[in-house]
Amino acid sequence: MKKQNAEKFDIDKKASLLTGASYWRSASLEGEVRSVRFSDGPSGVRAQGKRGDYLGVNGSFPATCYPSHSALSCSWNENLCEKIAGEIAEEAKFFGVDVLLAPDLNIKRNPLCGRNFEYFSEDPYLNGRLGAAYVGGLRAYGVGSCVKHFAANNAEFGRMVCDSVVDARTLREIYLTPFEIAVKSSQPEAVMTAYNKVNGVYCNENAYLLDTVLRGEWGFNGAVISDWGGTHDRIAAVKAGADLEMPSCEITHEEIRSAIKAGILTEDDIDKCARRIVRLASVVTPRARECNFSAHAETASAAAAECAVLLKNDGTLPLDGKGKTVLVGGFADRPLIQGGGSSKVNPKNRESLRGCLHGTVDGFAYGYKTDGKHCKRREKRALKLCAEADNVIYCMGLPKGDREAVDRKDLSLPENQTELLKKIYSLGKKVIVVLYCGCVVDTSWDNGASALLLVGLAGQGGARAAADILTGKANPSGKLTESFPLNLADVPSSEYFGKSPYYTVYGEGMQVGYRYFSAHPEKIKYPFGYGLSYTRFVYSGTKTESGGISFNIKNDGEADGAEAAQLYVRFPDGANAPFIQLKGFTKIFLRAGESKKAFIPFDEYTFRSYDGENSRWVEVAGKYTFYIGASSQDMRLVGVVERKGAHTSVPAEKTDGLTPFVCEIKRDAKGRVIADEYTPLCELKNAVGIAGRVFSGLALFAVRGKDTVYGSMRHLPLRTLAQFGSFKRKTLRGMILMFNGKFFKGLNEIFSNKTDGDI
Ligand code: BGC
Repeated sequence: MKKQNAEKFDIDKKASLLTGASYWRSASLEGEVRSVRFSDGPSGVRAQGKRGDYLGVNGSFPATCYPSHSALSCSWNENLCEKIAGEIAEEAKFFGVDVLLAPDLNIKRNPLCGRNFEYFSEDPYLNGRLGAAYVGGLRAYGVGSCVKHFAANNAEFGRMVCDSVVDARTLREIYLTPFEIAVKSSQPEAVMTAYNKVNGVYCNENAYLLDTVLRGEWGFNGAVISDWGGTHDRIAAVKAGADLEMPSCEITHEEIRSAIKAGILTEDDIDKCARRIVRLASVVTPRARECNFSAHAETASAAAAECAVLLKNDGTLPLDGKGKTVLVGGFADRPLIQGGGSSKVNPKNRESLRGCLHGTVDGFAYGYKTDGKHCKRREKRALKLCAEADNVIYCMGLPKGDREAVDRKDLSLPENQTELLKKIYSLGKKVIVVLYCGCVVDTSWDNGASALLLVGLAGQGGARAAADILTGKANPSGKLTESFPLNLADVPSSEYFGKSPYYTVYGEGMQVGYRYFSAHPEKIKYPFGYGLSYTRFVYSGTKTESGGISFNIKNDGEADGAEAAQLYVRFPDGANAPFIQLKGFTKIFLRAGESKKAFIPFDEYTFRSYDGENSRWVEVAGKYTFYIGASSQDMRLVGVVERKGAHTSVPAEKTDGLTPFVCEIKRDAKGRVIADEYTPLCELKNAVGIAGRVFSGLALFAVRGKDTVYGSMRHLPLRTLAQFGSFKRKTLRGMILMFNGKFFKGLNEIFSNKTDGDI
């Protein structure tokens, strides 16, 4: 197909490009513009057949399931991210997928966010760098990336209606920086807007985010795509620069035509979006005939081993083969490898720790039920087995905590698992806990453990990786990318998180993760950047060289291993910055006894601060103290860099003036809800018309309660419902009339002969 200029098509054709053609495809113009096929990401390809969905409910073709982003980030290894993305791209090409809906760059603001397992970390710089590497990996194999969810999408509760109320400095320094780094260094083909609003405006309609920042300041020249069902006012979105609405929506084409007729949209507005969609279509290339799934399975296991974090070890690990070792826990048999929702991959294969340790351990017992139910019989058998052993490997996990669309209520693991663990402790054996979860959990139960290995949600290779680490075949080198607090209440955002589906005030400002805990070490259990190894690393000889910091690392132990060294910077007082900030890192492999020189460069992000009052980045003059750390609380080297900077100070973030939410639900004098296209389903329970109340009752019954994946549909706006249900525009109009008490008029509208062209 030849290269196309969007302008040459007539308005109708151009308008047809602005909404999807189906669940996973953009529209094509026969013989002229190709249709782009999308698929989730990020931990493998979720290529679906006819029955597409955005919650991971329907099946998909088997593909390699790699570590989830939360695990992958613990490798602190950009090359690994790039490699995995490259293999995912090869599989995407095999399934005929052109653009992968990944990487996910949102910040882990609060441990309860159900989707944290899909995000890299609590740090913007780390997210940006890993994201940029991932984008590069996809591109190397000819697959486009769609970085998501832009922006400030840090909770699942009310995600389709929620307003993230955040001050300018925090927004820039914490929540936009990951996207900025990925966009500037790797120019992804697309950016996906988040469902939520930022400061009162839906991300998909947010001209500040899309036009001023993303395109204007960062020079993004790709396409902006809505999240699936994340369009509200499509006309406002086009004006703001949101090019493609996904998935297909029966209503859109007509809306655009009427807006042009009414002079609300110009042809130029449409041209801009169409041009970018046409450009995006140039990523489409023929499908690959072959794919080396067995090589990918090897990578998946090796990667999982690099991502696991050894949190505790009194020397019991690696196992030395002496004494009797038994394995306990349902998750040793049915491993948790990934979270739920749109990222769910149908794994090509899945090994269990029980299978991988066959011949190494002297017995296995389930111990507990993985659904959280108590089972005395299983407990009894497990305790009997443990009583005869010297070492117990005990697998624990969070069965349903890592899920899109649902936030957790607390940090606890199921009681049946923690109770059994305590009973095992009382037998006085050496207990090695293996933990499967993609998020922060309470670990107050670990006091009796000799070792604690966080495998995370490590994909299909997680079991082999755990077995290799337990037996010493692999040396752990993963380090945490999210702080494990002693108490959830100590996380500064806890005061604000999950209070309302309609708004969340970012009142904690920049005090996210280690930015807060590094100044309050007494509140932290396992810090950001922390992880143990089977060897020791000695840091020495730091020097400020032009453009960066150099130092030496020596592997001073008996095992080969890798170390993730981290550069933290403390800004001068005038910068009003958080205590320390991660500004660089490097992962180095060293044979036992070997030393290497390491170098961490400065870049445009190292010394900058955002001046929210004057809307600009500035450099504050003064002394910047840098620390080379083995974690955010284990600084090994220190030095000072004096910067001239044009400013003496910059204002702190302004969290006290954050405007509370203004409710948009329209009501009549009696307080009953007047429905419109944007009314969330659950609000119809107080609708003016009985039809609205009945409809809402049935719909809420169908989505079964707040705490399920379907439960997120409680807040589905009516237009989105119409989009997912493929309703015509007149059907939506008719429904709204009925919900507002005009039952027969509405019915008449729905069954009228009007075409959608007759407004
Ligand atoms: C998720 C996106 C995903 C899309 C398509 C949405 O629910 O937020 O991350 O790419 O569905 O499955």
